[in-house]
Amino acid sequence: MYSIRWRFVIIYLILVGIIFGLVSVAVSSMVENYLVGQYLSNAQKNANSTAVQIAPYLSDSDASSMYNIVVSNGNDMGGRLLVLNSSGIVQTDSFSSLNGIKLDEREVNDVLYGQNSSSYGFHLINDSATGDDFWSVYYTSSIIHNGDIIGVVLYSSSLSDVVRATSLLQSQTLIIFILACGVIIISSMLTTNWITNPINKLTEVAVKISSGDLSQRAGIKGKGEIAELGQTFDMMCDKIQNVDKQRGEFVSDASHELKTPLSSMKILVESLLYQDNVPEEVYKDFLSDINGEIDRLNRLITDLLLLSKMDSDIMTINLETTDLSALINKCVEALRPIAQTRNITLSVNLEGDLDIECDPLKLRQALNNLIENAIKYTQDDGHVNISSKRHGNEVAVQIEDDGIGMSKEHLQHIFERFYRVDKARSRDTGGTGLGLHIVRRIALMHSGRVEVESEDGKGSKFTLILPISQAHEEWE
Ligand SMILES: Nc1ncnc2c1ncn2[C@@H]1O[C@H](COP(=O)(O)OP(=O)(O)OP(=O)(O)O)[C@@H](O)[C@H]1O
Ligand SMILES: [Mg+2]
Repeated sequence: MYSIRWRFVIIYLILVGIIFGLVSVAVSSMVENYLVGQYLSNAQKNANSTAVQIAPYLSDSDASSMYNIVVSNGNDMGGRLLVLNSSGIVQTDSFSSLNGIKLDEREVNDVLYGQNSSSYGFHLINDSATGDDFWSVYYTSSIIHNGDIIGVVLYSSSLSDVVRATSLLQSQTLIIFILACGVIIISSMLTTNWITNPINKLTEVAVKISSGDLSQRAGIKGKGEIAELGQTFDMMCDKIQNVDKQRGEFVSDASHELKTPLSSMKILVESLLYQDNVPEEVYKDFLSDINGEIDRLNRLITDLLLLSKMDSDIMTINLETTDLSALINKCVEALRPIAQTRNITLSVNLEGDLDIECDPLKLRQALNNLIENAIKYTQDDGHVNISSKRHGNEVAVQIEDDGIGMSKEHLQHIFERFYRVDKARSRDTGGTGLGLHIVRRIALMHSGRVEVESEDGKGSKFTLILPISQAHEEWE
């Protein structure tokens, strides 16, 4: 009963019921009025003609002629005719039962004592033979002789034909209504299928998806609201499946990355454990390697936590108006000691006073990753240049090095999680392959982007492009 199909059936039935009810009342009252009108004009004609016919006989008190006329006219007319004198006393009755009785009906008095030459009214009469009530019309017409009202003709006729006709009409309307209901139920059952089928399909797919089968799709074609709902639903499923796939990949990549330093540590520890009389220098050497792996593990976990924070919308951006040059200088100065150990020159060439709207902590992390990479992937005695330039509403921060660079095929992958061009080398330098991915996420959080140009053996140029002011306060 709660299904769409039944709701449609019930709504249609109610509508059709109301329409049929109104039409049936209107038609039967029109038919009733028309038939009653016909009866009245008939009664008027009959009473008037009988009054004219009877006038000379009433004046002569010719009872037998009057009786013959009322009986014959009454039979022809299908009703009852009475002739009353000017005192309202019945002189002749075509049914012969009221002779000599005074009739005090309104219609008689209207004619005898009022100004009207005729009158009519409706009466509910009880049939003493059957006990049933029926409606009857009374029509009176004055009998005039030599200009004087000498009596009244009263014509009465049962309206049961009219009642029968209207009730027949009503019962036929009811039959048509019942048939219409049948047609409505069957047709709405059939036609609602094309509405309910796609909805049922959606429910079926949603149930399968919620039980874990993300490959299911509704595949509803066409146009209109329901098709649109189906197509949007499929799009949503694509996204869910994609997110699920990425999450799976992330977990397996992360586990793999976490396992590598652990395996190295295990080998180092075991080789110490199972060797006797290990010299102290070897111990120290191995322990320092283990320490390096612990640092790597620590960095990896920190980066993974940061990424997972970015994935689950916990991370919001805290915008502040920041002096970009001061921020870049802080990063450079923090990394200069590392560069100096390898005699790498860090030169800075910045746009003058430039305040930008950014999250300074996150932006510093992005710049740090880029400058750190430039130092990391440049040979000793190399050069790294950091510059910034304003272009309209944007600022481009460029980190250029003359280091090892990379060939074209790597450029499209380096922003992916855990991607490293030379895994062995990267591991030596403690890289996890998450740095550039984080840089790109931070750029996107600021509605910005990162671009890269690089040539194998010649160096790389990373450009971080950021809007100077943010259109929205929160990044979601
Ligand atoms: N300036 C650069 N010159 C040459 N190669 C680079 C440079 N910057 C990045 N790369 C390459 O891109 C890869 C991805 O860099 P990314 O910063 O994401 O990871 P990583 O430096 O290996 O590790 P970490 O997560 O510690 O930063 C690096 O492994 C490296 O091969
Ligand atoms: Mg890096």
